[in-house]
Amino acid sequence: MHTNQVYRERVTANNAPHKWWHHRWFKIIGIFVIVLIVFAVILALLLNFVVFAPEKLETSSTTATSLSPQTTATTTTQQPGWSVTGNMNNARYLHTASVLSNGKVLVTGGLGNSSMLNSAELYDPSTGIWTTTSNMSVARFHHTASVLSNEKVLVTGGYDNGYLNNTELYDPSAGTWTTTGNMNNARSFHTASLLSDGLVLVTGGESRGAYLNSAELYNPITGIWTTTSSMTSIRHKHTSSVFSSGKVLVTGGGTRGAYLNSAELYDPSAGIWITTGNMTNRREYHTASVLSNGIVLVTGGNNAFPYLNTAELYDPSTGTWTTTSNMINARSFHTVSVLSNGKVLVTNGWNGYFYLNSAELYDPSTDTWATTGKTNNARDYHTASVLSNGKVLVTGGYNGHIALDSAELY
Ligand SMILES: *[C@@H]1O[C@H](CO)[C@@H](O)[C@H](O)[C@H]1NC(C)=O
Ligand SMILES: *[C@@H]1O[C@H](CO)[C@@H](O)[C@H](O)[C@H]1NC(C)=O
Ligand SMILES: *[C@@H]1O[C@H](CO)[C@@H](O)[C@H](O)[C@H]1NC(C)=O
Ligand SMILES: *[C@@H]1O[C@H](CO)[C@@H](O)[C@H](O)[C@H]1NC(C)=O
Repeated sequence: MHTNQVYRERVTANNAPHKWWHHRWFKIIGIFVIVLIVFAVILALLLNFVVFAPEKLETSSTTATSLSPQTTATTTTQQPGWSVTGNMNNARYLHTASVLSNGKVLVTGGLGNSSMLNSAELYDPSTGIWTTTSNMSVARFHHTASVLSNEKVLVTGGYDNGYLNNTELYDPSAGTWTTTGNMNNARSFHTASLLSDGLVLVTGGESRGAYLNSAELYNPITGIWTTTSSMTSIRHKHTSSVFSSGKVLVTGGGTRGAYLNSAELYDPSAGIWITTGNMTNRREYHTASVLSNGIVLVTGGNNAFPYLNTAELYDPSTGTWTTTSNMINARSFHTVSVLSNGKVLVTNGWNGYFYLNSAELYDPSTDTWATTGKTNNARDYHTASVLSNGKVLVTGGYNGHIALDSAELY
């Protein structure tokens, strides 16, 4: 105690000539710290209101559109741009969703929490409620569903403890399913496209012990499947897109472990396939969407690690691909929807490490990507459908633990 006191006194005594400077330094440092805090506060405010402003503006405009009369009590707003709507009766992933001509959305099959599903249900956008409808004749996932020009829905193939050649039709006015012709090949991971002449073209996929390059056509009038020319390449987990010219572009995919960058065009009038330009990236589980300007946008997918954040554009008038800006997130098993304003909404997916809850918007006029809120659930193997009211309905999916029954609106 005593020695301490002596020491302290000695120190003060020794430092006496410097005492004034010490005082000044404390003042300077004090003022500096205060100025620093003020700067930090100003910077935080600037960041909040200026740098992140575009996203806020965006979400405020989308929430404005979501205040339509069709929003109901079952819809609660939770995330910017996104709102939760009614839950499906069954949790499901690897299912299909089709917008019917009456505006309702038909969801079919998929994998549930613990079983393959034969069930189907309807979403009514005016109430936000799901109601079950008749079951399909078989359970299936990795199948396709196409709305025909006669308003019926054609469901094809998929997997149910075996690859299916079974196809069936849903009649929205009767709410019933009837089986129609079997495909010549059982297939899963295939594509189905409604052609301008009303036929449905099915391409590739996986069958028991084989990957397919075969293609076949369904005639809704006769209910019969006929084989057409085979693609140049075997493809599964590929995409197919129909141009207004009637031609069909298939891109990428491949066989297990071998990924394709090639693309080919089907000419329905000649019934033949023609190879066209190669994509820059080899990819499977990617997406392809025909934009309002007729160009096809391909996004993401994978060809081993890392998963792809790249996107490219196919111009049908030149048959060539050009890369465009990269997405903000790499993603596979995601969805892409062309909105009525021409912008493109990309949702969720898997980036090789995480199930994503992020969404981004592509603006074709500027070739730029911007994040647009977060979905309430992270998910992949989900669906996204553009409703007649302009909103996008996202349904189900898998979050790494369970199948989801939740649905959200953008
Ligand atoms: C799925 O299973 C999980 C538990 O494994 C359960 O919590 C959840 O309620 C189930 N979901 C549905 C819709 O059955
Ligand atoms: C659909 O099938 C499931 C079993 O697979 C059954 O529990 C359910 O009652 C069926 N629903 C209808 C509407 O027939
Ligand atoms: C369709 O599959 C069933 C059952 O696997 C089989 O019996 C039938 O021969 C197949 N039909 C055609 C056209 O391949
Ligand atoms: C596309 O790439 C393949 C190799 O992956 C090559 O054999 C083929 O010639 C290319 N085709 C075009 C049209 O560039």
